Amino acid sequence: MNDQAARLREQLRNSSHRISSKAIAVVSGKGGVGKSNFSLNFAISLCKRGKKVLLIDLDIGMGNIDVLLGSVTNLSIIDIFSKKMTIRDIMNIGPENLHYISGGSAFSSIFSLDEGKLGLLLSQLEEATVDFDIILFDMGAGVSDQTLKLLRAMHEIIVITTPEPTAITDGYAMIKHLIVDGNESDISIIVNRSSSRAEGTSVASRLKQAIKHFMNVDIHFLGLIADDAVVRKAVIAQSPFILFSSTSQASKNIDDIARKYVNEQQVKEVSFSFIHRVKSLFLKR
Ligand SMILES: Nc1ncnc2c1ncn2[C@@H]1O[C@H](COP(=O)(O)OP(=O)(O)OP(=O)(O)O)[C@@H](O)[C@H]1O
Ligand SMILES: [Mg+2]
Repeated sequence: MNDQAARLREQLRNSSHRISSKAIAVVSGKGGVGKSNFSLNFAISLCKRGKKVLLIDLDIGMGNIDVLLGSVTNLSIIDIFSKKMTIRDIMNIGPENLHYISGGSAFSSIFSLDEGKLGLLLSQLEEATVDFDIILFDMGAGVSDQTLKLLRAMHEIIVITTPEPTAITDGYAMIKHLIVDGNESDISIIVNRSSSRAEGTSVASRLKQAIKHFMNVDIHFLGLIADDAVVRKAVIAQSPFILFSSTSQASKNIDDIARKYVNEQQVKEVSFSFIHRVKSLFLKR
């Protein structure tokens, strides 16, 4: 009897670990503010800290995680149907055992799949994601109705801005859009390309205060990343900047953010399955 109870407890522990892969979307109001660079380098830094991460390039416009990694990938989500492949077949493995799926234009067709195909895709994704602690989505800038819907299934949304007024106002508009849409995901902000710590924290606190004042929602400041010439050099060298120059300021910032993130997440459990939520949002029952 005791054995049975112990086994049951063990199963519960495992299953709660299994269903708890955390879905995080990286978004921005304005384009070109550093979403893809943040997603890739943050993902690698989380891997270095022992997290199993699946990065999904969902930038419908021009997905470019593979370009940033200097790798050529021929497989896309469409091959699941045309070549009868599985999600695992189309996963690529990058530095630090980072798993990633290239999207590019192929991903735009996800939203127009018929229910049967979407159902198949989601079931496969459900099965494949049990192995991962974190699924990180690099999204395009701005929002469509479909992406707003997908964003409602996320545990967390990270909004990237820079200190430029246009990026801040677009970031504010993006967050407002999410809140008005009824999105209940945790919202965090990253201030990329900060010229100083003071500038980054001041942008973050102004944004936080405005959201609190006008929308009565608390958002979390995840951290800042310096404006650093190394980022551009690494992009040109097609190497993630934290590997290209691990001692650069931007790399230190990413590592600080990942370290803090991993520590804080230990006390924060996810309370629902991302895939179940996507299914209930996208599939009629
Ligand atoms: N911290 C930084 N310091 C200096 N330059 C940066 C930094 N972050 C990004 N950049 C520059 O901005 C460019 C765009 O970055 P990235 O491709 O990550 O943006 P994005 O938000 O994903 O763009 P898109 O909206 O097109 O998907 C980089 O190629 C780099 O030149
Ligand atoms: Mg991008």
